[in-house]
Amino acid sequence: MIIAQGELVNIREVRWGDLKYLQKWANDPEVAYWARAETNISNVTIGEFRRWYYRRASSSVKRFIIETKETKKPIGSISYRDYDSVNKVVVLGIHIGEKNYWGKGFGTDAIKAFVKYLFDTLDINRIELDTFDENVRAIKAYQKCGFKIEGILREARFIEGRFHDVIIMGMTRKDYLKIANKTQM
Ligand SMILES: CC(C)(COP(=O)(O)OP(=O)(O)OC[C@H]1O[C@@H](n2cnc3c(N)ncnc32)[C@H](O)[C@@H]1OP(=O)(O)O)[C@@H](O)C(=O)NCCC(=O)NCCS
Repeated sequence: MIIAQGELVNIREVRWGDLKYLQKWANDPEVAYWARAETNISNVTIGEFRRWYYRRASSSVKRFIIETKETKKPIGSISYRDYDSVNKVVVLGIHIGEKNYWGKGFGTDAIKAFVKYLFDTLDINRIELDTFDENVRAIKAYQKCGFKIEGILREARFIEGRFHDVIIMGMTRKDYLKIANKTQM
């Protein structure tokens, strides 16, 4: 089932046949480098991956597939986790696993559509996430969708031999409504 639509992508529920794509992306070191927690499993067989995926799926992560509208090709996934029903907060994660689709607007389009779904359909009040200083492409994409940098945890993450700043970002319903009123999102 499609839960959200952008201009370039559909966001739909994960099917059994998608696990081979998710495994491929998780096993790609370059994707894993940028995606961090989104794909914190690598070098695994499809069987191991399926077991990991369903353990995680049954926990607090709700994941969806990003497919192109034009060809219906799965190109990545987008998720929310740690749904806090009292404060109406979720944590967003995304990875475009097909690298030739990076930097062409697909990620921004998917985030915008998903943000709309979270605010309008799930009635969330705040979406948060973190990334690291080097991931300028992700920071820019989030900012284009209305996320703001809320804080920096200096040198909080050790990645491939170097300490990196963690960038905390968030978007509230008020932020969303301001943009939606301007652009009819
Ligand atoms: C992060 C991600 C979702 C962004 O989606 P995308 O489709 O690649 O990005 P978009 O084309 O929508 O927008 C990226 C923006 O960053 C800019 N950009 C692209 N590549 C860049 C680079 N190497 N360095 C700096 N900026 C870059 C683009 O110009 C664009 O900004 P602009 O529209 O102002 O010009 C996607 O690249 C991805 O999944 N990467 C791997 C995993 C990852 O990083 N996940 C996020 C973890 S927090």
